[in-house]
Amino acid sequence: MNRVAEREVTNTTIPRLVRTGSEGVDVLFRTVADDLPVMLWMTDRDGGCTFVNRKWLAFTGRTLEQEMGDGWIEGVHADDRESTRARAREAIQALRPFTIEYRLRHADEDYRWVLAAGSPCFDARGSHVGYVGSTVDVTEHREHSVVETEQRIHDSQEQMRRLAARIQAAREEERSALARELHDELGQTLTAIKLDLGRTTSALTEARVQSTVVDRLQSLIGLVEIGIETVKRITMSLRPPALDHLGLPEAIRWEAMGFRARTGLRCHVRADKESTALNPEQQTALFRIFQEALTNVVRHARASAVHVTLAEHRGVFDLRIRDNGCGITEAQMADPRAVGLLGMRERAALVGGTFTITGRRGKGTAVLVRVPLTTKRPKRGAPRTGRTARRQQR
Ligand SMILES: Nc1ncnc2c1ncn2[C@@H]1O[C@H](COP(=O)(O)OP(=O)(O)OP(=O)(O)O)[C@@H](O)[C@H]1O
Ligand SMILES: [Mg+2]
Repeated sequence: MNRVAEREVTNTTIPRLVRTGSEGVDVLFRTVADDLPVMLWMTDRDGGCTFVNRKWLAFTGRTLEQEMGDGWIEGVHADDRESTRARAREAIQALRPFTIEYRLRHADEDYRWVLAAGSPCFDARGSHVGYVGSTVDVTEHREHSVVETEQRIHDSQEQMRRLAARIQAAREEERSALARELHDELGQTLTAIKLDLGRTTSALTEARVQSTVVDRLQSLIGLVEIGIETVKRITMSLRPPALDHLGLPEAIRWEAMGFRARTGLRCHVRADKESTALNPEQQTALFRIFQEALTNVVRHARASAVHVTLAEHRGVFDLRIRDNGCGITEAQMADPRAVGLLGMRERAALVGGTFTITGRRGKGTAVLVRVPLTTKRPKRGAPRTGRTARRQQR
């Protein structure tokens, strides 16, 4: 077929621009055009094809006649035809150079991505006579760059994930440290003051000192007690000691109790077992997801009750939080501004788990966090110094 094509190129398709020149130029053009390793083509003033070189015909596996005029467009992928035609038309009208990327059918019937670049050409008098251009197969380049781009996206997501994990871990450590400091240092100091004030009050009462002084001391004791309670509350909110000492079910029960007291909503917790085979990171992640889910119930659900279940089965641990509110919608779940949901999903993923949320209109929302169980049962409670451990148990 190439030989046929070659003969036809020689006899009929020397472009007008070149045909207007001498015989020597015709031959030179033909030789150069056919030997070039890229596909070459020419058009008339209206954009109709007047010439394609041998390389083009070898690529498409078609005859020269088939490609002439608008024939070449038959080889363009149906999805790219309209855009290719429009881009070419636009450039021709403005007499501007253009580049177009589209899919062209190869002789082996597969479509390949090609990049066509064309420029207007003019005769000796400066009249526009058509376009001349080249087309190159860029399939591999595209595939390569797609793979490269995907790899880069994957790498940066991985980096972000690791960074998020470090930030989470650092936050938890900081919270734990702060909770310990508050509890051990401030809590102890306040307790010591309270005891001393108590002793002083008793001594003064025995010595029959003026009752106004004793009353003052007693109201001071009251203030110190408020201080001690505040320290306890802040410590608990920073990191519930139950999480380190009694395990996730107890910590969740504690949180649910606080939730009931704060909001007046019902909150039932059902746990299969008291201790779990979850590792400390998983327990923390589940606890934080639980807190975030409860916050969402208060803020968005308009619910009257929340049901929480903790269950272990066949190597996985499930935490379910179900409310009877308005039900989250698909659109709300898919909203890119749903950073709270994203955070819950990320937390679950960081400990090897999954996060799912479903909503039924008017029936409520259900959150399921599923994490794989580690084989080794963790020891109860995080390692602490003897002094701290003793004080925590008070
Ligand atoms: N339990 C729920 N019931 C009904 N709608 C919910 C529930 N939980 C979440 N939603 C909906 O999903 C949206 C996204 O939740 P998300 O926690 O990501 O964001 P947020 O709570 O609005 O803000 P924040 O980033 O402070 O958490 C909410 O704005 C709300 O419309
Ligand atoms: Mg939220």
